[in-house]
Amino acid sequence: MCGIIGYIGGRQAQSLLIEGLHRMEYRGYDSAGVAIQSDAIHGIRRMAGKIGNLEKLIEHDPVGGTCGIGHTRWATHGPPTTLNAHPHSEGSGRTVLVHNGIIENYEVLRRKLVELGHEFSSETDTEVLAHLIDEVFEGNLEQAIATALSRVEGTYGIAVMHTGDPEKIVVARNGSPLLIGIGEDDLREMFVASDVAAILAYTRKVVYLDDGELAVLTRDGHETFKLSEFGSEGVVRLIDKEVSHIDWDLEQIERGGFEHFMLKEIYEQPDTVRDAMRGRLLEEEGIAHLGGLRDMADVLDNVKRIVITACGTSWHAALVGEYLLEELARIPVEVEYASEYRYRRPIVTPGTLVIAISQSGETADTLAALREAKRRGAPVMGIVNVVGSSIARETDGGVYIHSGPEIGVASTKSFTGQLAVLAQFALYMARKRGLTLIEGREMVAGLRALPGQIERVLEQDELITRIAQQYCESTNALYLGRGYNFPVALEGALKLKEISYIHAEGYPAAEMKHGPIALIDENMPVFFIAPADNAYQKIVANVEEVKARGGRVVAIVSEGDTQLTERVDHAIPVPRTMDCLQALIAVVPLQLLAYRIAVLRGCDVDQPRNLAKSVTVE
Ligand code: AGP
Repeated sequence: MCGIIGYIGGRQAQSLLIEGLHRMEYRGYDSAGVAIQSDAIHGIRRMAGKIGNLEKLIEHDPVGGTCGIGHTRWATHGPPTTLNAHPHSEGSGRTVLVHNGIIENYEVLRRKLVELGHEFSSETDTEVLAHLIDEVFEGNLEQAIATALSRVEGTYGIAVMHTGDPEKIVVARNGSPLLIGIGEDDLREMFVASDVAAILAYTRKVVYLDDGELAVLTRDGHETFKLSEFGSEGVVRLIDKEVSHIDWDLEQIERGGFEHFMLKEIYEQPDTVRDAMRGRLLEEEGIAHLGGLRDMADVLDNVKRIVITACGTSWHAALVGEYLLEELARIPVEVEYASEYRYRRPIVTPGTLVIAISQSGETADTLAALREAKRRGAPVMGIVNVVGSSIARETDGGVYIHSGPEIGVASTKSFTGQLAVLAQFALYMARKRGLTLIEGREMVAGLRALPGQIERVLEQDELITRIAQQYCESTNALYLGRGYNFPVALEGALKLKEISYIHAEGYPAAEMKHGPIALIDENMPVFFIAPADNAYQKIVANVEEVKARGGRVVAIVSEGDTQLTERVDHAIPVPRTMDCLQALIAVVPLQLLAYRIAVLRGCDVDQPRNLAKSVTVE
């Protein structure tokens, strides 16, 4: 939810920390702060609001030093004020700390610390940790942190400095993402961050911390330990951590001339869908090869039931996955909201495969759902975008969607990337369960044609912008589709809600008669997904029901459509493909429509209110 960054090295930390926070602003952007150590004194600067506010403050009151930590916040405990902004300290600035996560037993700890004479200045759970570390500090910071964390319940990614043990940043992780960046040798520098985007300008060499690990960063490098070993009699052993190389480039995390990251990412989809299939489609055999599932081949051969779990847009992708796997591979599939699945007593029978879908790979509910499935003996597979993320590392195998960094909070390219991978996975499973070579080759051809077809949809942007002008004053909207296009209706409605704040709902088109039709009048725009598939005539009837009640209709239709185009208020023609792949094409005009409406309403498209890119707390 929040973004953490830390630096120790030869450069001045201030500008580097601020730049890194800007790159993580999509994680949370309601307040920010930095603390920089110089001559064993901490300079702390904090400000409510966007990082720009903090920058203005620092312009007038800069902080010198080459060792510092920074934070951009998404409030969980205490409103987004300057007093609640991080870094937090024990009061005099001896111990300074930034935190991403939730300290669940903070009230109990706080009461005990107040009894010991501590005074608190914020309403946050995090401040408690700063006081606790300072309370147990006896000269060695990592020891103090380990002791303090042994009394903490909850999730955290933290970075801490102490004037009594200067020239080091100590970090620890449990449940929230944290990685170490190994800087240029000659500059003797080290980085820590919640997200590689924050430090990619300086290094591609990273070490991912796992839950229960603590690391000490100094100018000479980093040392990683198991937190649990600190309390025990024995020696605290060094952990040999693998160094990963990041192949994303800086350009990928820049806006590249687009007004917003979201628009850039919508336009990247022909490439990202192509990348999601690169090296995976085998025309000759009419099959898909998914290397990341190699170790799960036996499990996949014996699957009798699949449970797909996810949140938000990824949950909508899971619904399309259900249709694909049931229709093509004839495997029964259930789609579960991760936040519900984790607390229910899920039934895991032999032959059950659980699939976790997540763009960030860090969504707390999805992570917990897959852990619950594993606890119940299910093999778990991941479909993830962020390489090295927790879900990727905790699943038995999986497939990366290769969409590249997705900065816009509203997911777009990761959705079509997830669908492209689900279609290939369904093809892989189906070819082992009766789908013929010819049918397999048709599917491969259909997949190969998608990038070009999405390019053709993007050429409709001007038309879509004109349509958006007709609907940007709306206060409500309905999205309707059938079959594979029902989840697309849900996704279209979510996009509009997320970035334009217009209330919108998606429904199976036939469900409209059972209630939502009561909402229809001249003020209720209805967006139909109506390609020329086997449900077309049914949709035509639904459109008539809406028109009969004075509703205004926008329809996504197939190129060359006439029947509906003459009947609706606005039609957006898109290329036709196989029914099971149409969702990858039909969603794009809905992404653009939501984007254009939000821009016309002056909304902050990349950082919509109340949202964050990766929901790492439940
Ligand atoms: C979608 O636009 C939102 N950003 C949100 O619903 C998101 O899909 C959800 O939080 C799941 O995120 P994940 O795919 O990173 O797990």
